[in-house]
Amino acid sequence: MTKFIPVAVHPLSMERDDAIRLLGKHVAKESLIAHCRATAAIMRATAEALNEDADLWEVIGILHDIDYEEVDEDMERHGDVGADMLCAAGFGDEVTGPVQRHNYVKYGDTDAPVDVSLTVADNISGLVIACAMVKGGSISDVTEKTVKKKIKDRAFAAGCNRERIQKIEAYMEMPAYFALSVAALQGIKEDLGLT
Ligand SMILES: [Fe+2]
Repeated sequence: MTKFIPVAVHPLSMERDDAIRLLGKHVAKESLIAHCRATAAIMRATAEALNEDADLWEVIGILHDIDYEEVDEDMERHGDVGADMLCAAGFGDEVTGPVQRHNYVKYGDTDAPVDVSLTVADNISGLVIACAMVKGGSISDVTEKTVKKKIKDRAFAAGCNRERIQKIEAYMEMPAYFALSVAALQGIKEDLGLT
């Protein structure tokens, strides 16, 4: 008699393009979509540098703020609602967990590389895009040195948390991370509306 062996369902049911489509169903603001795309590109590059699952980390980056418009600035619900939305869409813990925990104000810090990398990418992405904007929207003209200089200016892209960005030092040197982040955004410049 043939024994029934349940087929393991891969918890990551959607890849990048599907994740982008899903994000588009819940988020209308173009700048927020660009923020998610930028965070995802940096997450992918970070995963590659750390020998982690780049496809997974990219999807987490794309979807991390999926609830942002839904919670409408109620940061107490941010992350929880996103995790519920993604659970309903068929994602497993390896996606819903980091999305929920990236609300570190509510959940505190963990030592998990994916959690640290997500909150860092969440902050550096805006700073690197801001560097491009002061260069007329040209990410091609942004270098590691641009980021190094601008990050010291606390008034520049003030919403990007410098202390949070520094947490990447657990895994790599800051200049290497700046270079990685710039290269990641240069790689998707058309998607970000940059040159
Ligand atoms: Fe974000």
